[in-house]
Amino acid sequence: MPQISAQKKQGAGSARQLENLARRYGTPLYVYDWNTIAAAWREFDQELTGIPHLICAAVKANANLALLGGLARLGSGFDIVSGGELARVLQAGGVAGRVVFSGVGKTRDEMDAALQAGVLLFNVESAPELALLEARARARRRPAGFGIRVNPNIAAPTHPHIATGLHRHKFGLTASAALALYEQTRASRWLQARGLSFHIGSQILDSKPLAAALVKILPLVHHLRQFAPLEYLDVGGGIGIDYRHGRAVPVRPFLAPLKKHLQASGLTLLLEPGRRLFAAAGLLLTRVLYIKDNARRRFVIVDAGHNDLIRPAFYDAYHRIAPLRPRAGAARRVDIVGPICETADFFARERRLAPVRAGDLLAIYDAGAYGFSLSSNYNARPRAAEVLLENGRARLIRRRETHADLMALEMEL
Ligand code: LLP
Repeated sequence: MPQISAQKKQGAGSARQLENLARRYGTPLYVYDWNTIAAAWREFDQELTGIPHLICAAVKANANLALLGGLARLGSGFDIVSGGELARVLQAGGVAGRVVFSGVGKTRDEMDAALQAGVLLFNVESAPELALLEARARARRRPAGFGIRVNPNIAAPTHPHIATGLHRHKFGLTASAALALYEQTRASRWLQARGLSFHIGSQILDSKPLAAALVKILPLVHHLRQFAPLEYLDVGGGIGIDYRHGRAVPVRPFLAPLKKHLQASGLTLLLEPGRRLFAAAGLLLTRVLYIKDNARRRFVIVDAGHNDLIRPAFYDAYHRIAPLRPRAGAARRVDIVGPICETADFFARERRLAPVRAGDLLAIYDAGAYGFSLSSNYNARPRAAEVLLENGRARLIRRRETHADLMALEMEL
């Protein structure tokens, strides 16, 4: 079982501080540590010393304005996938010229907003999308910088829901289809081929597939540079974390091969890390409501539900879970489940847990990425509050939703 002291290194605060926060702001409660996020960002930055690069934090992993603002102050760029994420980045003080816009389904309005803001690059994923981008750029008299997302047909060793690099996935285009688009747009006044991108998946712990994808794509990059003034190579995100043990996964093995291949190229490397920046910096605090023994199984029923953290239900994800104050006695196997009326509403099954009682607090670790950002109001549950620790000091960065918040947008008959 992870100890709170070990956890402290990840910056989640002491047991007493977390108890105080739970009392003050209620549970379920997301708690993040800014120093851990900043350290992860700097680790990327430092490992890329010596080659031109821009770290574009993947907003989808955690879109809280306070965190985006902190990253913007470090000089970060951002990877966005919607007009909503663009609005958040701008609101948080992010620089549009450091934003890349990814995604297979950008709408006309989203393109217009991104052109207006002046984003660095559109990562385009299909011929009709590129045609619409050209039309919008022409209509607005603003040239659009773009890159095509290439699908390298490389399998990423991860959960099938978050693997993106095979031709059967909806993402990107084959190298030959990409080449055809770059050639077609050579003469366009409104489209500027400034980059090329790929992203093979998420929660990847083996550095080889990323390097393999790069090596596979480099001949296309060299070929394109004979006629297109490419400046950026965007290798996406995807670096995983060690959910089972909470050990730090160094980024160097992932970045060293990229550095080696790009060193002399003159290209600027764009990286889109999400999980590796936020996950280990956050935990979800939840209170035990009931202990239920039934048919030889013990259920620890907590006040967080899969509307708060859907990763176990959605990706069979493992999150370490521990009581803030472990009680004496033998650990036993339990199911840790939420209050929602779905069998998938669980955080762990047959997990060894130290003895707990109703009222105890549990920490669900490594919940800083794709935790709150994937949360919902299912079962009319107000979404959790979010607290940020910085140098040990706590600040509320999103208040808990109220029932009135949830009903405010609806019209009664
Ligand atoms: N760039 C692109 C184009 C992406 O699609 C993603 C993630 C990222 C960057 C950031 O990837 P990261 O560094 O975070 O692995 N909800 C899932 C993960 C979905 C990832 C979607 N795309 C989860 O909770 O595991």
